[in-house]
Amino acid sequence: MDGDQIKQLLGRTVAERFVTSGMKIGLGTGSTAVWAIRRIGELLAAGTISEIVGVPTSSQSEVEAQAGRIPLRSMNDPEIAGELDLTIDGADEVDAAGNLTKGGGGALLIEKVVAYASRRVVIIVGRDKLVDHLGLKYPIPIEVIPSARVPVTRALEKMGIAVQLRMAVKKMGAVITDNGNVLLDVSLPAPTDIAAFEREVNTIPGVVENGIFSRANAEIYYGTEDGEVVAFKPAR
Ligand code: 5RP
Repeated sequence: MDGDQIKQLLGRTVAERFVTSGMKIGLGTGSTAVWAIRRIGELLAAGTISEIVGVPTSSQSEVEAQAGRIPLRSMNDPEIAGELDLTIDGADEVDAAGNLTKGGGGALLIEKVVAYASRRVVIIVGRDKLVDHLGLKYPIPIEVIPSARVPVTRALEKMGIAVQLRMAVKKMGAVITDNGNVLLDVSLPAPTDIAAFEREVNTIPGVVENGIFSRANAEIYYGTEDGEVVAFKPAR
């Protein structure tokens, strides 16, 4: 199987395996999670499952869920009341302890709100995303209010961290997130205490959230070229 086929297999498999009628579900973002959203829509249309409500984590997942006629709510809706049964999402990197980085698609803020409010978090990734150290190969995004871009950059540089403002494609200037903020992509010097870094970055004034997920307690599945969906066993 090639990379796209593996993403499709992962998304469809976890939707079939973990989504049951009546669930409140966080709908992840990215080229892998989208297959889970599409499969949930198909299962609803076929009557295999019913009474699902979804909370989208981005404009991408909202559009996909609407196309699949998945009823949508916000986290604040009384029907959701700030808690979800399940979230299905992708990730950019996964370390041996099961810590994640996310936000390659720029949706880290709502992805984290949703994942940290979910009883069960299922993460689906290609095998290439399993790494020894987070943030070496794939930069970690930090979502920042636009007016704090330079002071936050300075604060991070003083911590010895190289910072890159994420620039848009097919639009001039910076990427603006679904929440109206900018993204600073950083690489981490290894080894780093990931949980401490997640907390510390968020203490810089102007930082809204960062793409480290050290408290998601996620169940992680990766796909293989042979078409297998394998449960990743974190060394916790
Ligand atoms: C978006 C994300 C995605 O889940 C992450 O970037 C993985 O995406 P893909 O499945 O396309 O590789 O965090 O903000």
